[in-house]
Amino acid sequence: MSFELSNKSLNSISSDAALVFAFQKGEKDYLPLEDFIEMDNLLDGQIKKICDLEKFTGQKGEAITVIPNKEILPSRVVVIGLGAKEDFVADQLRRAIGLVTKKLHKKIDSLSLTIPQALTKENELATLTSAIAEGFILASYTFNKYKGEKEKGREFASVILSVNKDDKKVIHDAIQKAELYANATMLARDLVNEQAAFATPTHLANLAQDIAKKSPKLVTCKVIEKAEAEKMGMEAFLSIAKAADTPPKFIYLEYKPEKVKSKRKLALVGKGITFDSGGINVKPGDHMNDMKMDMAGAATVLGVFSVIADIKPAFPVMGLIAATPNLISGKGTVPGDVAKAMNGKTIEILNTDAEGRVTMADSLSYAVKQGATEIIDFATLTGAAMVALGTDIGALFSNNQDFATKIKAAAFDAGEKVWELPLEKEYKELNKSDVADIANIPNTRYAGTITAALFLEAFVGNTIWAHIDIAGPAFLNKPSDISSKGGTGFGVRTTLNILREIY
Ligand code: BES
Ligand code: ZN
Ligand code: ZN
Repeated sequence: MSFELSNKSLNSISSDAALVFAFQKGEKDYLPLEDFIEMDNLLDGQIKKICDLEKFTGQKGEAITVIPNKEILPSRVVVIGLGAKEDFVADQLRRAIGLVTKKLHKKIDSLSLTIPQALTKENELATLTSAIAEGFILASYTFNKYKGEKEKGREFASVILSVNKDDKKVIHDAIQKAELYANATMLARDLVNEQAAFATPTHLANLAQDIAKKSPKLVTCKVIEKAEAEKMGMEAFLSIAKAADTPPKFIYLEYKPEKVKSKRKLALVGKGITFDSGGINVKPGDHMNDMKMDMAGAATVLGVFSVIADIKPAFPVMGLIAATPNLISGKGTVPGDVAKAMNGKTIEILNTDAEGRVTMADSLSYAVKQGATEIIDFATLTGAAMVALGTDIGALFSNNQDFATKIKAAAFDAGEKVWELPLEKEYKELNKSDVADIANIPNTRYAGTITAALFLEAFVGNTIWAHIDIAGPAFLNKPSDISSKGGTGFGVRTTLNILREIY
């Protein structure tokens, strides 16, 4: 999909369709924006007439196609609903564009639009532009590598934005930014959608090394093999890895800016279970079907690193992934086994299906050892997070309120929803073990997302840390406005916002 900027007005840009916008007004009416009104005036009220006739209400993503009754350059005018004016945030535009992309891509190759001034009063032009571009690109994504008959490309060939001369630079840069964000998100989606037989720890490690090779001055990658991990004391990670024949890989990525000016050192940790069978506590029935997605946290980290050299954060960033499948075999860990994490804490593994937290005990310990001043981890950690927050919202935890506030702001700007849950101190004792320092499952069925987060907290010491349980939003069983079924790349855009310190 190519984005072009034009100085011409919308009616004199030749395209298959010009998009114009309207808000929803009450239940049954709509409020046209100035691009709608201008076009409608040119067409002597034809657009309004058709909208009224079709009972258009301006709901988010609602679309009405008008074939102009007069000679103008676009072959169609498509009116797009943006939802209620009171609810309008840039993400509403991202999602409306996403829905429209899915509706129109079969019929239309080129689109033109302008960003209505009514929207720039309360939102920055750059934010709106990025949201539009992300909506177009992300909604066009499909994973069809293994389909015999490939679905016709879902993307528009070209999107032409009518812009004022003065806004050109801002809009151009915002589109470039959106392309980076969307590419990083789609890389994460591809990894999550891949079959586990392909997206192995070795595949993830090779990809990390390729990412580093592309920007050797800024990014380095070290893959820690099993023997070395043993020497380093990563017994927790290896206790989960030992059932599988595929070699485990501990991936360590490091980005260093050309000039390090700050003491800040951020670690991004991703859960990297390439398939979660549950281990000897095997998952029942169809609970296993989507478990190739259990490396979505790792995919988020790799997606971010794939563009980090373009984003160029001003401070160092590490990426850490303990990658292994969680399989069943005679060699595997059994309930009651004890493993010592790198930081010296012992873990009693009472349920091999609570494997992610055990592997992450080592990745978090290693992040601390490497001098992280801040850690953010992404993990498809608990089914309980889906019970609590559903598939749209990630569960955020942090031991530092300022950090949590920054992450919430970055997530809001990215259009990724998170909701903070408490690291309730009183619940720590639920993770107590009779024989080791901590148990990998609590002694209650309640508050599973919180107790899992409290388990992770035991491995970060005093380091500022946030954990996002992405079990819900990382993988969808029905398409969303801007994503197809399957991997969503959740967390990539939030993290990129954090790296740019724009909150
Ligand atoms: N990978 C799962 C969590 C999960 C479930 C992610 C559904 C996405 C969708 C995790 O390893 C797991 O199995 N957690 C257990 C923990 C329990 C044994 C304490 C769970 O949530 O049931
Ligand atoms: Zn599990
Ligand atoms: Zn898991």
